[in-house]
Amino acid sequence: MNKRSVLLLLACTTVSVYAQKGKKTSTTIKPKSEFVTELMGKMTVDEKIAQLVQFTADGTITGPKSGTNWVDEIKKGNVGSILNATGVDYTRKIQKMNLESSRLKIPILFGYDVIHGYKTIFPITLGETASWDLEVARISSEVAAAEAAASGVHWTFAPMVDISRDPRWGRVSEGAGEDTYLGSKMAFARVMGFQGKNLHDLNTILACTKHFAAYGAAEAGRDYNTVDMSERLLREVYLPPFKATVDAGSATFMASFNEIAGVPSTGNKWLMNDILKGEWGFKGFVVTDYTGMNEMIAHGYAKDEQHAGELSLNAGIDMDMVGAIYLKYTKKNLEEGKVTMAQVDDACRRILEAKYDLGLFEDPYRYSDAKREKTTIYKKEYLDAALAAANKSMVLLKNSNNVLPLKQTQKVAFVGPLVSDEYNIIGSWAASGDRYGYAVSVQEGVNKLVTDKNKVSFTKGVEIKDTKRDGIQAAINAAKNADVIVAVMGEFENQTGEAASQVNIDLPGIQKEFLAELKKLGKPVVLVLLNGRPLTLSWENENMDAILEAWYPGTMGGDAIAQTLYGVSNPSGKLPMTFPRSVGQVPIYYNHKNTGRPYLGASDPEQKYKSRYTDSDNSPLYPFGYGLSYSDFQYSNLILSTQKLSANGKITVSVDVKNAGAYDGEEVVQLYVRDLVGSVTRPVRELKGFNKLLIKKGETKTVTFEITPDDLRFYNIDMKFVAEPGDFEIYVGGSSDATLKNTFELVK
Ligand code: BGC
Repeated sequence: MNKRSVLLLLACTTVSVYAQKGKKTSTTIKPKSEFVTELMGKMTVDEKIAQLVQFTADGTITGPKSGTNWVDEIKKGNVGSILNATGVDYTRKIQKMNLESSRLKIPILFGYDVIHGYKTIFPITLGETASWDLEVARISSEVAAAEAAASGVHWTFAPMVDISRDPRWGRVSEGAGEDTYLGSKMAFARVMGFQGKNLHDLNTILACTKHFAAYGAAEAGRDYNTVDMSERLLREVYLPPFKATVDAGSATFMASFNEIAGVPSTGNKWLMNDILKGEWGFKGFVVTDYTGMNEMIAHGYAKDEQHAGELSLNAGIDMDMVGAIYLKYTKKNLEEGKVTMAQVDDACRRILEAKYDLGLFEDPYRYSDAKREKTTIYKKEYLDAALAAANKSMVLLKNSNNVLPLKQTQKVAFVGPLVSDEYNIIGSWAASGDRYGYAVSVQEGVNKLVTDKNKVSFTKGVEIKDTKRDGIQAAINAAKNADVIVAVMGEFENQTGEAASQVNIDLPGIQKEFLAELKKLGKPVVLVLLNGRPLTLSWENENMDAILEAWYPGTMGGDAIAQTLYGVSNPSGKLPMTFPRSVGQVPIYYNHKNTGRPYLGASDPEQKYKSRYTDSDNSPLYPFGYGLSYSDFQYSNLILSTQKLSANGKITVSVDVKNAGAYDGEEVVQLYVRDLVGSVTRPVRELKGFNKLLIKKGETKTVTFEITPDDLRFYNIDMKFVAEPGDFEIYVGGSSDATLKNTFELVK
């Protein structure tokens, strides 16, 4: 193309003018479809392919080293998106470089893993899910989006909605735990938070639902490992949270690393084209995970990179993260007839539409405003929201003799490796969160709250993993002088997250040994846990007086822990994942099947030929949905409006919940259903509703739920999603072990 035609071309594209100058010079931009069609009409095949290409900048490293010189590729006009570049200055610089080399001035899309906060860090997703508070989840994503968007980021790789029944898998910390119903509600709320009402608003970013699909079912809990399961299990348990995000309008999806039944997701046409884009009508674009396309060679699914590119495009993968395969081989695949131009066009269009929605064609620098960046991050209201979220995420696992809440009059020895920690407390994958200087440690939080500083002491005693014993004596001495001992313990933040699977999920190092020493002092010992997965805590449950699961509570974590320990905040979190007695029980989850030989526990007259372990109880240490409060909630009067549910009818379920304790408190009222007989077997119970509400001390509230036949649907023997007539049980209570029961019949 000669110089004259380039100039002509630029003149026709109003938006290019904005892009060049970095500011808006006109207010008119054509409607999306017209605009993108017109733009694509001007694009060469190479330019279209470039939109499908994403490289990582030299920011955070989130995967294996990539051999590509991303700067050179941008200069050649070969890049549509960059990940791991953040901050106004850096993103502005990269955008400028791109616009200078992009003939049609197509802006770069900046992606980043904003998982549980950008600067102001909220509890890790698993912890936040323990709040069972959808507004908490929405607000935390909203704050994360506002901060990220003010820092040049357009797109978060979140929410992570992988259901997992395996605490060995390190990535459980990033997700919503084991339950499909809770996970779907949380997933929906998170997308609403990130994307807001309108993606064009400057405080919103594109969501990316990941990892599609079933990544959390990796065999043996080992990251990236094989998945094989029935289509029924996939559709009933693993897919619904993904679908919920499509309903919420999630703009993008990420393919998972794993294979399902022999087909890696990156090359899985059935998943991407048939289910996601077909059945569910998803209109956004799908990105691979980090080099996921290349990895199909190691899987033994693609013979070489070119083949991997062919399989991916045919499957419906629109963007190649880091792998450089689309860049290198799409043209060749087109020439050889392995892929079609219509496929390239479709992928390109989806990506351009996302850029359009963000307003990047109006002004490619609109998210890179230094003043806004400065005034947005760490706003007081964001820190307050993070504190509220952390308080609501705390799960009280044990509280013998009401040792908690602590009293200001008591002398308390705070010990343990995480007692003054500011680094781990914000958890893994904490985006641009500052690990020093901003995060509030437990020591800092307690010091802010306790009026008489002589009443508290802080001594580490031991390290997280290190086995050195030379600090123990000093901590024991401090503990000897106290009325109560609080041990703040847990895991390193990087023991959970990606590539952090473990076969042992006990407290690491010699922490347990140290606890045993503390116990010998004969004083009440409270264990506060900072960790990102269910741990095996049988010994701790036997020997500690109280246990508070604080997860990694984020920037304001130390304040939240102090407020909870001293009763300024009444714990109200409930477990989003089962805590096993021992790792040998894994996978363990509440909504299991009954088997033909269910074990009834110690009272079972038949002890031998039952589905059980000979060296352990079947039951978990702490079930899904479990969590104590300083209040005491009592359930009664479980009443159904009718005992017969008709095909287009509904049942109103009501229950009285009394706060019989001495504190006002929030309770998560949970409703579970059991379908007694089906054309295929059904789980022993399934969560179908929950309601978190404040009940003042002495007060009784009546909580109601509605059940319709839609809530009872499952994939029957013919893989039809239907509710089958028959008998059902309903359980309502404060955990998945709820015993208050009623029954109804679904009639034809
Ligand atoms: C992870 C994704 C993440 C991506 C980009 C991958 O290794 O699996 O969850 O979004 O890296 O950082």
